[in-house]
Amino acid sequence: MSDLFKNIVSHSKEYGFIYPSSEIYDGLSAVYDYGVYGSELKQAIKEYWWKAMVYAHENIVGIDSAIFMHPRIWKASGHVDAFNDPLIDNKDSKKRYRADVLLEDYMAKIQGKLDKEIEKARKRFGDGFDEKMYRETNERVAGYQNQIDEVNDKMNDALRKNDLVALKALIDSCEIADPESGSRNWTDVRQFNLMFNTQLGNIAGEEGKLYLRPETAQGIFVNFLNVQKTSRQKIPFGIAQIGKAFRNEIVARQFIFRMREFEQMEMQYFIQPGSELDWYAYWKEKRMNWHLALGTSPDKLRFHDHENLAHYANAAVDIQFDFPFGFKELEGIHSRTDFDLGSHQEYSGKKITYFDSDLNESYVPYVVETSIGCDRMFLATMSNAYTEETVPDAEGKDSSRTVLKLPPALAPVKCAILPLIRTESGLTETARKLFNDLKFSVNCQYDEKDTIGRRYRRQDAVGTPYCVTIDHQTLEDQTVTIRERDSMSQERVPIIKVSSIISEKVSLEPLLRKL
Ligand code: GAP
Repeated sequence: MSDLFKNIVSHSKEYGFIYPSSEIYDGLSAVYDYGVYGSELKQAIKEYWWKAMVYAHENIVGIDSAIFMHPRIWKASGHVDAFNDPLIDNKDSKKRYRADVLLEDYMAKIQGKLDKEIEKARKRFGDGFDEKMYRETNERVAGYQNQIDEVNDKMNDALRKNDLVALKALIDSCEIADPESGSRNWTDVRQFNLMFNTQLGNIAGEEGKLYLRPETAQGIFVNFLNVQKTSRQKIPFGIAQIGKAFRNEIVARQFIFRMREFEQMEMQYFIQPGSELDWYAYWKEKRMNWHLALGTSPDKLRFHDHENLAHYANAAVDIQFDFPFGFKELEGIHSRTDFDLGSHQEYSGKKITYFDSDLNESYVPYVVETSIGCDRMFLATMSNAYTEETVPDAEGKDSSRTVLKLPPALAPVKCAILPLIRTESGLTETARKLFNDLKFSVNCQYDEKDTIGRRYRRQDAVGTPYCVTIDHQTLEDQTVTIRERDSMSQERVPIIKVSSIISEKVSLEPLLRKL
């Protein structure tokens, strides 16, 4: 873990954003609880997504389907047979790894050496450094690059062909050792299904085997006919859903990046066959704009085309975010063809078609999907916001602060109400009255404990964008100061205007209008 990442993890715990699950029992690996502020931030992320997808599009409607579904659904979707990761065990340490992750880590190590060489050369040659030429001509750097390319090609080829023997041979030939024990005593590579299962109460054996859904999408597909009928939508139209998903990840690490229980925000867009690549391009752009509207720097986001397509897709791309551990998948956009509806039609024996009055024909609709993990979006938002900086204190001296520069519309607490001095007569009463006026329109916090400087720092640490201070001047002229979190500048405004000023500043509406 980089220092930045460690600091984000400990800040999240200390300030009530994320707690390890079951902590008093030493935790449960890759499962987390959202705390006092985390639950608010997560809720705000979901609201931003839901309004951008459902409210902003007349032709997108929302549902909330159950986590348990008929077990044949997972046969039809391909998850029973193909939702696997290649697994390898180390015979000495008894630790279990994903074969592809061991190879990726191996390549990342070589990449690290390569980056170091480039940095050294940059320092040596100064402004005149031609990185492209250096990469091509420096033997050591070119050698590292060839090594990475060769391993990457072989790994992707083996994954595409589902060739587990070739994957094992590659791990052996790279002489990859168990990162914990250093042992190279590996088992063969086997497929490991990622679905959790449980048993229905009143049916024994395979018949009663239930799965915890590994994606929310199938709840949308199996409700296609219901939703189309009740919403009277015409193609193209979308169905959106936010809900829990479960995957028995072999390698669960990097905090909430890869969890065993997580939440997805998915939208399936039903379209005419043949139009899928146009809609795929459309949703790529739309979804990237959703991220950018939050003020995320464009160089922190990029598209990454899939090299190995999932069993249901004919095109797929990730929106990657530059997490503290590098660029990684934040969201996926997939052209799923008619695979899912077609397959449910076959397995259920029920006709799942749409009569298109424009074309005067019936067909199984094609689908373009947008799928983002709520928890990954949470981590991206925290990574973007977490800032340690030096700022002047009340006496003008340097002091350090940790501040979450969250977009105001997503901040867990929108506004803090702070009477300057608790004991000064009239201040707490006025502050309480303001708090009671504001509390039904925005989430605000009343705080009268400690010095005003300490209270500001406490609010900075949880990302509160505005602090309203009630001081003795308030009692004279009914004005208060509003302090803005990032600039720390203060503005004096009439107390009766506070509610409308804050509500406007923290509203989601301007973000949604940008989309
Ligand atoms: N319905 C398509 C689907 O599930 P996916 O790429 O497997 O596609 C979509 O998952 C998104 O769900 C990912 O981009 C990621 O944000 C999130 N996600 C997937 N597995 C996750 C995990 N184990 N922990 C947290 N988020 C996860």
